[in-house]
Amino acid sequence: MPQAMRPIGIFDSGIGGLTVARAISQRFPSHPLIYFGDTAHLPYGEKSPELIRRYASRITRELVDMDCVAIVVACNSASSNALEEVREVAGKAVPVIDVIHPVVQSVAIQFPGESIGVIGTRATIDSGWYQRLLEERGCGVKAKATPLLASAIEEGFHEGKVSSALIEAYLADGFLSGIKALVLGCTHYPLITDQILRSMPSDVMIIDSAEAVAKALSDLDVGISPGVLFEEGSHQSMPLRRFIVSDLTRSFQLGAERFFGAPVTLEERKLRES
Ligand code: DGL
Repeated sequence: MPQAMRPIGIFDSGIGGLTVARAISQRFPSHPLIYFGDTAHLPYGEKSPELIRRYASRITRELVDMDCVAIVVACNSASSNALEEVREVAGKAVPVIDVIHPVVQSVAIQFPGESIGVIGTRATIDSGWYQRLLEERGCGVKAKATPLLASAIEEGFHEGKVSSALIEAYLADGFLSGIKALVLGCTHYPLITDQILRSMPSDVMIIDSAEAVAKALSDLDVGISPGVLFEEGSHQSMPLRRFIVSDLTRSFQLGAERFFGAPVTLEERKLRES
């Protein structure tokens, strides 16, 4: 396959990484994408670092075997716990982009020396990555694990009383005071940005990683370009987007269709033992 046609591989535990996939497909509308949702093992945020590493490595192996030109770890829990392993499996020829470095870099430029809030899964916050990377760039950090949010979103509670009550419970204790920006350190959280905004002081900015990650991908020199346009459902051999899950679940199907506002065809691929 010519370099420009090799797909971009993107993965997360579930639907959260679709927020990153959408930003990528907006930037590269004609480039094929393969999205892998590890529905058999979500939520990653409650797993041990060892288990997250094992799952992330296996998915990376699948995506490399599918000839992906680059891998996007569209999951903060995996980015903060398994990046080294993902890079090792991907090898030198397949660049890997995580969701943390690009957003930290952009926040540190936008808010030099300021105090930044970060919310994310337990696995992400406990890893200390955001704290370390932001502090290295001169920012103050307030970090908080908000463990029930990703599962609630995955279950379809992306609006209404359940997610509002969780946001209230996690954020109404003064956590937001004194910060200039709140980083959504889980790729599921942009799906409830409007609700989070409602509990935020108006002078605190919400930042998610999707745009910064899509931009980091465009800075790679690996031939990712608009390429040749493939229509979804056309007779072309490689559809524009493929959605693969490790377990065909109704919640992923509904979540992805709600997200794109259109029917989505899922393929199931069980993760191999490596
Ligand atoms: N969306 C993922 C993240 O960014 C994973 C959430 C989960 O599975 O717990 O951390």
